[in-house]
Amino acid sequence: IRPAVGIDLGTTKSCVGLFRDGKVEIISNKQGLRATPSCVAFTEMGRLMDEEAKNQAALNYPNTVFSAKRLLGRAYEDAAVVKAEGNSQVQVSYKGAEKSFFPEEISAMILGNLKEMAEDYLGQPVTHAIITVPAYFNDSQRQATRDAGVIAGINVLRILNETTAAALAYSLHHPDNGERNVLIFDMGGGAVSVSVFSIDRGVVEVKATAGDSHLGGDDFDNCLVSFFMGEFLKKHRENISHDRRAVWRLRTACEAAKQTLSSNIWSWARQVPSPSRSTCSLPAPPRHPAAFVQHPAHAVSLVEG
Ligand SMILES: Nc1ncnc2c1ncn2[C@@H]1O[C@H](COP(=O)(O)OP(=O)(O)OP(=O)(O)O)[C@@H](O)[C@H]1O
Ligand SMILES: [Mg+2]
Repeated sequence: IRPAVGIDLGTTKSCVGLFRDGKVEIISNKQGLRATPSCVAFTEMGRLMDEEAKNQAALNYPNTVFSAKRLLGRAYEDAAVVKAEGNSQVQVSYKGAEKSFFPEEISAMILGNLKEMAEDYLGQPVTHAIITVPAYFNDSQRQATRDAGVIAGINVLRILNETTAAALAYSLHHPDNGERNVLIFDMGGGAVSVSVFSIDRGVVEVKATAGDSHLGGDDFDNCLVSFFMGEFLKKHRENISHDRRAVWRLRTACEAAKQTLSSNIWSWARQVPSPSRSTCSLPAPPRHPAAFVQHPAHAVSLVEG
């Protein structure tokens, strides 16, 4: 029997694993890490993936593609795409020629890379996969994810909600606890989602769900970048917003600072006073607020990318 793998196709990082001998195995990448950057870079010489693509981004920013998941399955005239992401087809210079790719094609490259990681790990071809998507994804975003799988040569057995996958993982790790309500909180790179499930002997039922499709780590980074660009303008009278390389370097520094500061919430609050509060809002109220009250959680599970 050929094994099926599970793929978490994330905005900033992706992950591949399989269920074998009664337990979940997460497959590490070449660098020994369980989460791999969802990043593709195009150069004169060829295509680079994951850490290799991310590491050269400062030098080749216009041809390095991040966050393709945010464009997946969105109509080109979609106001959100125009506002937040500009053009929904990605234009790059590749081997000396101008090329454009659909988000599905970029996602297919990321999926293909994860498939290869799984094949190296298992020593056999991997043809079947389950791919997770955010619970808020609509039909066309789900279809686009499926299409990306097909382009990568994967038979997509199922598209599963990310929070449901987390609830299933929770139930596997806590098998005989009787009926429980579990709150899953997933703060990703692109979005935040919160769901309450009731879990009883492996049967997982969604009780309530809420979230914001444009409130993830990327948005925190954006807030910091605009704040510091403003500071730079005030102090040095120079607007760096058109210098993509400078903006990328600032973004990398902001993300690193965010990660360091997040270990100490008080230093975060003191040092970065307003931009995050004024431009980032908290998730919208749950679609079924009563459900959160009716189903008090016995356990809270935080999702790590
Ligand atoms: N210690 C930390 N403190 C704050 N943020 C962190 C920390 N570590 C990682 N992050 C942020 O988490 C985000 C990545 O999370 P994750 O890998 O769960 O996202 P994802 O699965 O790619 O995105 P999504 O689920 O939205 O598609 C990045 O924005 C990263 O900067
Ligand atoms: Mg995620």
